[in-house]
Amino acid sequence: MILLITAQLLLLLVAPALAGMNKTGTLCTVTPSGGKDDSPSIMDAFKQCGQNGQIEITEGDFTIAKVMDVLNLQNCDISIKGKLTWNDDIQYWLKNSIGVTYAQRSTAWRLGGTNFSMRGHGKALFFGNGQKWYDQNRGNSNQAGRPISLTLWKATNVFIDGITWRQPQFWHTFVAHSQNITMTNLDMNATSNSQWSTVNTDGTDTWNSKDIFIQNWVVTCGDDCISIKGNSSNIHVKNVTCYESGAMCIGSLGNPASTPDYVDNVLFEDITAIHSSNAAWIKTYPGQGHVKNVTFRNINFKDVNQPIYISPCIYSYQNCDSSKLKISDITWENITGTSRYNVGAGIHCSAAAPCTGLKFKNIDVKPKNGGTAKFLCSNINSDSGLQCTGTCPGGWKQQLSGDA
Ligand SMILES: *[C@@H]1O[C@H](CO)[C@@H](O)[C@H](O)[C@H]1NC(C)=O
Ligand SMILES: *[C@@H]1O[C@H](CO)[C@@H](O)[C@H](O)[C@H]1NC(C)=O
Ligand SMILES: *[C@@H]1O[C@H](CO)[C@@H](O)[C@H](O)[C@H]1NC(C)=O
Ligand SMILES: *[C@@H]1O[C@H](CO)[C@@H](O)[C@H](O)[C@H]1NC(C)=O
Ligand SMILES: *[C@@H]1O[C@H](CO)[C@@H](O)[C@H](O)[C@H]1NC(C)=O
Ligand SMILES: *[C@@H]1O[C@H](CO)[C@@H](O)[C@H](O)[C@H]1NC(C)=O
Ligand SMILES: *[C@@H]1O[C@H](CO)[C@@H](O)[C@H](O)[C@H]1NC(C)=O
Ligand SMILES: *[C@@H]1O[C@H](CO)[C@@H](O)[C@H](O)[C@H]1NC(C)=O
Repeated sequence: MILLITAQLLLLLVAPALAGMNKTGTLCTVTPSGGKDDSPSIMDAFKQCGQNGQIEITEGDFTIAKVMDVLNLQNCDISIKGKLTWNDDIQYWLKNSIGVTYAQRSTAWRLGGTNFSMRGHGKALFFGNGQKWYDQNRGNSNQAGRPISLTLWKATNVFIDGITWRQPQFWHTFVAHSQNITMTNLDMNATSNSQWSTVNTDGTDTWNSKDIFIQNWVVTCGDDCISIKGNSSNIHVKNVTCYESGAMCIGSLGNPASTPDYVDNVLFEDITAIHSSNAAWIKTYPGQGHVKNVTFRNINFKDVNQPIYISPCIYSYQNCDSSKLKISDITWENITGTSRYNVGAGIHCSAAAPCTGLKFKNIDVKPKNGGTAKFLCSNINSDSGLQCTGTCPGGWKQQLSGDA
């Protein structure tokens, strides 16, 4: 009995931190446990050094078996050199992923607070064991509880750089309720090696956020590469290459129809889209709000299904002309490359809120099998500069399966 108590006391005295975590001054260093769940050590580092401190996750293999929810970072620099593997206990994640409100989505890791950075030095690798998720999801759309890899939540003044993602569980990243976020030199790839496609492994989505700068990304994702969702403003995206993706997208917006969604001041520039569904496009449900002042410039693409696209009734393709979600002041400039079929643009704006201030300059789309591209437009301003070759029906699909 006495021995037992002494042993416990001793443990308390000599074990101020978890085994894999070391604190020296304001620096917390996390080293890998060698196969056990490393998330408690990482959480311990966030707890002890997340305010006015530094966190170093060393080289080596780390296992993450639990959600990490860290919302109180302040003046903290995080450096990661190791590989973080989220384990494949699907039932755990389905039950425990952290809700992020948007469309009942959830996340495995949420970071929030003020003035923090996360640098991966080109060494950090986030491995999501995604193939397990792609296979169990069996090509279905959004599965509740399937976690976004990393979410910035109520985060302000953040710098993220030099991180590689492979096989994320769901979206690679999500930026919500955040401001002044810079994310540079990120490398992402979700590719299924089975009969089931990845589904919803977007590069990033922004929502209720402003002042975001994205630069130097390479993304392979099978879904939207950079997607700007409701209540996002002042977004600048530069030098991003996307493979197998939806490339540069505003939306989806306008769902539910009772809530207005606003997107303002977005610039996408120096973008390459390869073998993708679309290149520079806007998708909304028949809802309310607006998309205003968006520029797509220097967008180069190869083998893209339908490069330029607008739909006010995405996915259902119904009630297209009732949408009140107004799209205005959108510029496409230097949009060049090859389309998969003979359509360069399919643009249908809602009759209830026609598009105004659309501008097209130097649009050069060549169908990959030869011939000339069609540009289909309905309910847009007549001085857009686009030589429309015909009208675009309301139910015009995002992806074509052949020539029009
Ligand atoms: C803690 O730091 C010491 C000295 O730097 C080092 O020898 C030891 O390996 C570290 N332990 C852990 C778990 O990081
Ligand atoms: C964040 O950094 C800015 C600029 O260095 C500083 O003025 C501000 O006080 C910091 N905010 C917090 C919450 O520490
Ligand atoms: C925005 O965040 C960056 C860190 O990425 C910081 O250096 C800068 O001071 C912040 N800007 C403002 C206005 O706080
Ligand atoms: C993404 O990963 C797949 C599968 O490993 C690979 O074939 C493809 O080349 C990768 N994409 C890029 C851009 O590296
Ligand atoms: C564009 O981004 C890629 C990938 O990060 C990088 O290798 C390249 O140097 C960048 N180009 C410019 C002009 O910065
Ligand atoms: C977007 O902003 C508007 C206006 O502030 C607000 O009414 C709406 O609820 C917001 N939407 C979401 C999804 O937060
Ligand atoms: C339009 O958006 C750009 C960013 O792309 C911004 O620089 C400009 O000030 C915005 N214009 C207006 C009128 O807000
Ligand atoms: C459009 O492309 C041309 C030729 O490559 C270039 O000179 C011009 O600066 C580009 N325009 C913009 C707005 O970048």
